[in-house]
Amino acid sequence: MSIDYSERIPNNVDLAEDRRLRRALESWQPRFLQWWAEMGPALPTRDVYLRTAVSVGREGWAHFDHVPLPDYRWGIFLAERKDDRRIAFGEHKGRPVWQRVPGEHRADLQRLIVIQGDTEPASVEQQRRLGLTAPSLYDLRNLFQVNVEEGRHLWAMVYLLHAYFGREGREEAEQLLKRNSGSEDSPRILGAFNEETPDWLSFYMFTYFTDRDGKYQLGTLKESAFDPLSRTCEFMLKEEAHHMFVGTTGVDRVVERTAQLMREHDTDDIGPYGGIPLDVVQKYINFHYSVSLDLFGGETSTNVANYFTAGLKGRWQEERRADDHRLTDAFAVVPRVERGRLVDVRLPALTALNADLRGEYIADCATGVNRWNRILAGHGLDATLYLPHVGFNRRVGVFAGHHISPDGRVLDEGSWEAARGRWLPTAADKEHVRALMRPVYEPGKIAAWVAPPRNGINGRPFDYEYVHL
Ligand SMILES: [Fe+2]
Ligand SMILES: [Fe+2]
Repeated sequence: MSIDYSERIPNNVDLAEDRRLRRALESWQPRFLQWWAEMGPALPTRDVYLRTAVSVGREGWAHFDHVPLPDYRWGIFLAERKDDRRIAFGEHKGRPVWQRVPGEHRADLQRLIVIQGDTEPASVEQQRRLGLTAPSLYDLRNLFQVNVEEGRHLWAMVYLLHAYFGREGREEAEQLLKRNSGSEDSPRILGAFNEETPDWLSFYMFTYFTDRDGKYQLGTLKESAFDPLSRTCEFMLKEEAHHMFVGTTGVDRVVERTAQLMREHDTDDIGPYGGIPLDVVQKYINFHYSVSLDLFGGETSTNVANYFTAGLKGRWQEERRADDHRLTDAFAVVPRVERGRLVDVRLPALTALNADLRGEYIADCATGVNRWNRILAGHGLDATLYLPHVGFNRRVGVFAGHHISPDGRVLDEGSWEAARGRWLPTAADKEHVRALMRPVYEPGKIAAWVAPPRNGINGRPFDYEYVHL
């Protein structure tokens, strides 16, 4: 299923046939471009070797070429429609999916789309200054690839708002450009998207942990009975895979370089040799993992139970689950803190769906930590990285307000605060990382704190001119 590039807004949704919708989106487009100019990448470039979607089919959906960033063709691409797709879960299980928004679910669906939509431009804003300190042209290109695709994901959500939610939807689409990451007056909706991404270690951690949250949220919306939302998210997930790749291999390369320096100088204290010490890497993991866990919301939620029952939002890989997909009689075990101790409580599975999704996410996060530990072991080092306890440094859900150590002990506030600097990046850690961030814009060269990638992009070598400045 190919995409029509003859249009001002490339699309595979027959925009040419729907003049009202096309006009509405064409009037939003200049505001998007203005937002991109003001809030998008701060580093001026001539062109960037970018991947652009040209079809949405299983094979060969992407085309690679050097493109000036402002000319990137942001468009609206939905995965192919499956004939006879049926609702896979909830009280309408087995019935045909919806091509229109049912009136009784309008407000909830709109809210889900707005919350997802708000994260997409937020990450572009968070990352806008990173180009100024890119460790290589290869990394710079990957940053811009992530940025243009997050911009496109905004388009994806704005299309749904314009096409299916009338005047209110159009107003929400305006607001998506008016809120800004970290803004005092109108911040982004979710906490993690108001944090800074001030350095490249943070960027790799963000794309590993926070983009991965996005993957899981999109996975639940891909199951939606509202078919246009499902098809939109299905295609977004294909693009999202590259963002995970940037995070996973980015942290790989930091750990690789750190391990080399530890061996070469026979010390953990590699800061003076221009590397990022392993304990600082661990503190960054602790921070990014814990703020990303907050994105899953509270462990118990009647809203999420209602979304599931109504068919708005499913579970991760709903159709692969071996149960009745209604969960009206099912139970789940979730953690809680009671009288200073961690305990497990049994709850109706429907109200514990946030915890279910979070569990899938945690298992996925652990695979990266295993990779990084294999790299350390490969250098003959005993040191290991780990994921902190799910209750560590949390602001949302049952652990909020408690003081839990990375190894899962419930502490009093004083003890926790006294240890904070061993667990979370300190001002000095951040300053050390920041001081290492100097741009390397020469093809084939790389900053000293990170190893080069094993492969280039799309079969190109590492020393390819991925970006022309
Ligand atoms: Fe995204
Ligand atoms: Fe992403």
